[in-house]
Amino acid sequence: MAIKNVTVIGAGTMGSGIAQVFAANGFNVTLVDTEQIYIDKGIKTISSSLDRQIKKNIITVDQKDATLKNIVTSTHLESIPNNTELIIEAIVENKSAKLSIYNMLNNILNQDCIFASNTSSISITELAASTRPDRFIGMHFMNPVPMMQLVEIIRGYATTDATFEVIKQLAISLGKIPVEVFDYPGFVANRILMPMINEAIFALYEGVASAQDIDTVMKLGMNHPMGPLTLADFIGLDVCLAIMEVLYDGFNDSKYRPCPLLKKMVAAGKLGRKSKEGFFKYD
Ligand SMILES: NC(=O)c1ccc[n+]([C@@H]2O[C@H](COP(=O)([O-])OP(=O)(O)OC[C@H]3O[C@@H](n4cnc5c(N)ncnc54)[C@H](O)[C@@H]3O)[C@@H](O)[C@H]2O)c1
Repeated sequence: MAIKNVTVIGAGTMGSGIAQVFAANGFNVTLVDTEQIYIDKGIKTISSSLDRQIKKNIITVDQKDATLKNIVTSTHLESIPNNTELIIEAIVENKSAKLSIYNMLNNILNQDCIFASNTSSISITELAASTRPDRFIGMHFMNPVPMMQLVEIIRGYATTDATFEVIKQLAISLGKIPVEVFDYPGFVANRILMPMINEAIFALYEGVASAQDIDTVMKLGMNHPMGPLTLADFIGLDVCLAIMEVLYDGFNDSKYRPCPLLKKMVAAGKLGRKSKEGFFKYD
């Protein structure tokens, strides 16, 4: 199955990056969000990312223009082109919000269309159950999408080999490196990463060290390119909390309990870079 027409739902941190990468590789992309302001923000993010690539001589101005021309936008799910061969959902990390989108799309799109979710942690099998389990898959891009090579490809219980192969080849055609993962909470990336971030937040909460010093220990001591608290700010603290809750519920194990400080910061709207303040402040 050759894929040419892709719809990305959610124009936030991940959806804008995913749309950019597909468009830069010549796919026709429809980018959907609920309000025009979110679409505008997403397109601005894409444009700035492409400008940085021009500055670094990775692409030309013409390539930027061609990428932007490959993206059309919409604020209505009903207007998704019916020749869409692949939907990539990148909305908030909330199971019922995701399910309501799939239910709506299931009636609009033809049966061959593959549904992929960029979920960080929610069960692909559970997301797939009410739609088309054989053609449903996890396509977990990393942030920032244009820079990061990995795509975790998660097989739900009923995902067919044919669907898996199409998505694996597609990831390769985008210049990414796919890794096959089976469907358990947090998959591989976040099952390992999030407990480390959560533990760093506990260390801050218990006064073991300052935020800056916790990050310095992990950067200089473990050779991590960025400290766990800076990374949490980059991912979004709401996303981190949602993933910890999926791990906690999914494994029913107290070692995954989200740190109270993480919960408090999310409740206070301190979400990291996207709200200009998390563990650190951003202008
Ligand atoms: N942030 C990360 O580092 C990261 C990394 C990998 C995967 N993810 C996953 O990607 C998904 C998106 O995360 P994000 O960080 O981009 O979130 P985000 O909050 O930056 O963006 C979510 C976007 O979805 C839109 N949206 C919400 N409901 C919608 C609906 N019904 N229809 C259309 N659009 C809707 C919002 O308006 C927003 O623009 C989540 O499942 C998250 O777990 C995030």
